[in-house]
Amino acid sequence: MEFINLGNASLAAQYVAIELFREIKRNPHTKLGLATGGTMEPVYAELVKLLKSNPVDLSLIQTFNLDEYFELDKQSPKSYLYYMKHHLFDHIDIKPEQYYFPDNDRENLDEDNKAYDELIMKEHPIHLQLLGIGTNGHIGFNEPGTPFTSNTRMVDLSEETIRANARFFDTIDEVPTQAVTMGINTIMQSDRIILLATGEKKQSIIRQLYDMTQPNEEIPASVLLNHPNVLIITDNEASPYK
Ligand code: GLP
Repeated sequence: MEFINLGNASLAAQYVAIELFREIKRNPHTKLGLATGGTMEPVYAELVKLLKSNPVDLSLIQTFNLDEYFELDKQSPKSYLYYMKHHLFDHIDIKPEQYYFPDNDRENLDEDNKAYDELIMKEHPIHLQLLGIGTNGHIGFNEPGTPFTSNTRMVDLSEETIRANARFFDTIDEVPTQAVTMGINTIMQSDRIILLATGEKKQSIIRQLYDMTQPNEEIPASVLLNHPNVLIITDNEASPYK
């Protein structure tokens, strides 16, 4: 697990966007794992700029999002599908058949979750997985205490996560209390992982991660200690070096 503090948040976002862009350029069949959240908004803005100013064939790439709120209408502006369209997909040359999300309705949930994992593992797992981090160390929506062996499934969100995500809703009561998320095992199958953390609210969890030598299920992101290719990018505010 390598940590790099890039100083300011826009530079950090630019760096991550360049890594995504280079991954796509290197491999036209690339499979990307994508994340949502406020931290990723400038990453997708930079990626859109790079894709507009450089000729790249996107027709064969596939993207897999980490999570989606359970039973939230996919057309809702609060859904992660809407987020991804708004920040990325609507601005680049990609067709809906190329981007995937965990299914978020009750019907056939277990089969659909299994199918999502199989789709991710089929032929080749994800080449580059992008991650944000919750203030409690969650990755995707894998909350503290999640077994490291977990696969894609429905989860209950913690109070802390509901509070943190309330800023994207009009009132806290509108925040869904459940979601469907890629599991920790699913995430760990990726070839390469970049976790981006910016802002002062992330400093404490990044510092904890930096100090850890053994993974602990109470801090889901600490599983990354077991992965051979993880880069954690921060700005000054989230930096572990202070
Ligand atoms: C949500 C997402 C996570 C994301 C986290 C941090 O809970 N499910 O994938 O990492 O929020 O979001 P933000 O970047 O807004 O702090």
